[in-house]
Parts: sequence; structure tokens; C-alpha cells
Amino acid sequence: MSEQHIPVMLKQCIDMLDIHPTKTYVDATFGRGGHSKAILEQLTTGQLIVIDQDLAAIEAAQMLQAQYPNLIIVHDNYSNLKNILNDLNIECVAGILVDCGVSSVQLDEGERGFSYRFDAHLDMRMNQTQKLSAYEVVNTYTPSQLLHILYTYGEEKHAKMIVRGIMKAREIKPIETTFQLVDTIKASLPNKILKQVGHPAKQTFQAIRIEVNQELKHLEVFLTQATSSLCSQGTLVTLTFHSLEDRLVKQHFKTLATPPKTNKRLPSLDYSLDYSLKTSKAVIADEMELETNPRSKSAKLRAIQKL
Ligand SMILES: C[S@@+](CC[C@H](N)C(=O)[O-])C[C@H]1O[C@@H](n2cnc3c(N)ncnc32)[C@H](O)[C@@H]1O
Repeated sequence: MSEQHIPVMLKQCIDMLDIHPTKTYVDATFGRGGHSKAILEQLTTGQLIVIDQDLAAIEAAQMLQAQYPNLIIVHDNYSNLKNILNDLNIECVAGILVDCGVSSVQLDEGERGFSYRFDAHLDMRMNQTQKLSAYEVVNTYTPSQLLHILYTYGEEKHAKMIVRGIMKAREIKPIETTFQLVDTIKASLPNKILKQVGHPAKQTFQAIRIEVNQELKHLEVFLTQATSSLCSQGTLVTLTFHSLEDRLVKQHFKTLATPPKTNKRLPSLDYSLDYSLKTSKAVIADEMELETNPRSKSAKLRAIQKL
């Protein structure tokens, strides 16, 4: 299986971070290090702290350490950023990058159970040491929990039919593998829907993955910790791939970088803000990247700077 993950909007991310060679940066989602390597190339005495909750990503990071001794590797969830920096005695950093979601490598590692293209145990855990896996979500969640997940995280229009199908299959025996789940989804939907473009299991798999890894909950905690961990003039750059992720980022940044609305009839108060937006609207990939890297299609880049 290939170990390929093409970093999304690499140049835009690096430009936005405006790297200073002697300062400290964080790549909160190392993956296969596409963004990290570009940051490391610009550092002299500066340091890069890389985080990933996936042990395979951590192994890939360790392979880089001989070449880049200023690389600090942490196996953890990025929602623990404050503790991670505390443990390293670092008060603030000059820049942080987060590239949300799964990597192409995780999707292509069939045995991880992320993809409907490969038959595997229903797993989908980014962190192999966590307990909750897709198996528990699919086989133990109530119909209303499953409906909520499919509607909100998957934006699956046919959620009711799919959940009904899952419940029916579960009555006979547990759904154990990705292909059993794909077959269950296909059996739940009429031919008319199955003939539509796109794989019928795509949205359901995305929804279950987001639930298994609690992706939105961790991102929300991370955003607060990351913005408060920036030194003055430090920048946080985010890459999101789902409308719910982008909404969390947009709202968080807006709260920090816009003055509160005041009553026009009252005298205006002097209000000084601690942050400023570096992107007034989300940046998207250019045409050349859209053609060469399918993962860039849904990507949105936003950045905020601490003043
Ligand atoms: C999209 S990939 C990052 C790719 C990377 N920028 C590159 O160029 O190779 C996302 C990575 O972040 C990790 N990840 C996702 N959510 C995480 C979280 N809450 N905490 C720590 N790592 C996370 C995943 O395991 C995955 O390896």
C-alpha cells in the first residue's frame, strides 16, 4: 500500500505561518509530515513540536528525527495541547498548524477500517489505543443516536432507511466488517438511489469516523487552547474538510477578532482586541491543486494572529 499523502495548500499554509527560523512551531496533525517537513526546512535553531494520535504517524515522525534534531514528537490528542506545552516548559509558540481529519494513508491502510473500498474489521480509530471503535457505534448505538450521527456528521439524506437497515441486520447478527456494513447500506436503499453518483456508503462511513474519533469535540477544545498558546504575533492556521469543522473555526475566530456589538444609543467603549483575522474569508485550493489532489476539493484554510 502506498504511503502517499499530498499536503493540502502547502505553500499557502507556510506563507501564512510566516516562519521565523529561530522560533518554536507546532504541527498538531503530523500525518506523514508533508507540512512539517516544509516548516523544518525553514528552521535553524527553532523547534517544531509535532503531534499525532496515530502510532503509525508517530513512527513516520521518528524516521525524520535523525535528519532534524530540532523535532519534538508527541503521541497525543491535539486537544491536550496546553498540557503538552506545559510538560515541555513552553509558554507560547510562534505558530500552529492543524490539518483536520484523516490522512490519505489512513484511508489506504485497508486494515484500519476507514474505507468502504477495503474489507476489514469495523475499526476507524485514529488512535489505536482508544476503546471506542466503529464496531461499537454500529452495533450498540440506539437508532436515534445513529440517526443523529448520520444526519449531522454525514449529511446523509437517506439516514432513516440506512439506520432501519442496520437495526434489521443487527437483530440477526452483529455487523463486524466494513463490507458487511456496505452490504447492509446497499440492501437498505432502493435501486433508484443506488444508481446515483457516488458510493452509497460514503456519507455513512464519514459520519461513523467522526463519531468514533470525536473529531468535532476535540477540534473545539483545541481551538481554545491553540489560540491561547500563541505568543504575540503568532499565527494559528487551520485546514478543515467538513462544513461543521469550518463552522467551529469560523465562529471561534470571529468571537476572538471582532468587537462585541454595542447598543448604538450608549456611549461607545474603547475596545481593544487581542487577535486579528489573517483570512477575511476561507482560502480554497487553486485550480491546479484541485486537479492534482482530490483531497483539496473540500479544503478550507483560515488563519488568525495574536496581536
Ligand atoms: C490530514 S492528516 C495530516 C496530514 C499532514 N498535514 C501531512 O501533510 O502529512 C491528519 C492527521 O492528524 C491526525 N489527527 C486527527 N485528529 C487528531 C487529534 N484530535 N489529535 C491528534 N492527531 C489527530 C490523524 O491521525 C492524521 O494522521
